Amino acid sequence: MIGIGTRQATREVSTLAQPSKIPLGIVTVMAVWFISSYAYRYLTLDTEQFGIFRPRAGWLVLHVAGGTAALLIGPIQFWFGSQRSKAVVHRILGIGYLMCVAISSAAAFYMAAHTDFGWVFGMGLTSLAIAWVATTGLAVLAISRCLIEQHREWMVRSYVVTFGFVIFRAVVEVFEIVGTGTTVERLTAASWMCWAVPLLITEMMLQGRKIFMYGVQVPERLAARESGLLELMKSTENTVVSRPQAPSKVRLEQPQSVVESNL
Ligand code: HEM
Repeated sequence: MIGIGTRQATREVSTLAQPSKIPLGIVTVMAVWFISSYAYRYLTLDTEQFGIFRPRAGWLVLHVAGGTAALLIGPIQFWFGSQRSKAVVHRILGIGYLMCVAISSAAAFYMAAHTDFGWVFGMGLTSLAIAWVATTGLAVLAISRCLIEQHREWMVRSYVVTFGFVIFRAVVEVFEIVGTGTTVERLTAASWMCWAVPLLITEMMLQGRKIFMYGVQVPERLAARESGLLELMKSTENTVVSRPQAPSKVRLEQPQSVVESNL
């Protein structure tokens, strides 16, 4: 009755498949566009090039260096992340990403507090920095407790936030082309839109995927699922899980396909 092996169960429980090439390609192209158009010029020690950022040149160099590396590491991690053979590389790049976010976000807090474009703009980017630290921190916390699925989801959110500054510049460019508002209004609107909207869309995709995976839950089916899961947990207790997981988490993440095949 219950014949699912460790690997198969683990694979099916995942709500995030290998990312498809097209979205990852678009993200990478946009990241490279942003780095070459906006960031690259600040990767220098010649502070003459820094314009309004000259008084904060040191902070900006740290911020841009960390941000550029985090932007480039992200797609590599998503592409190779699920391959066991690349586990060591994944770990090294993951630690690198974490350090880049730590350095770049610390500088971002400083620059947001000293911006020339007003407190609402500053608050928008401070909130972006808080989201950066929070999403990345939760991804690290999840993997330190061996919660692979939660780690993946929080890393997706973390990279969406990293990518927020690319979206920020794209939104400002669109506002400029359309001719909407003043410079400060464009920057301020973009400082909030660039991360709040993408995070909302990400959440709708992550949670929507789970909702559709479970299908319609009638009471009889729920009861059958509960008992099936109990049996699955008992049978895999000694072979599957190296560290015990809370039953509530396992119950939440079992897709219908796993449960039905075990009833
Ligand atoms: C995701 C969290 C991020 C936050 C909270 C953040 C915050 C900030 C702040 C506050 C400024 C100064 C804005 C001003 O006063 O005009 C700034 C500028 C800048 N940031 Fe970030 N940033 C983030 C991510 C990134 C990333 C990933 C890069 C990639 C290289 C980056 C590159 C830059 C560049 C090039 C500038 C200066 C030129 C410009 O405004 O386009 N930032 N950032």
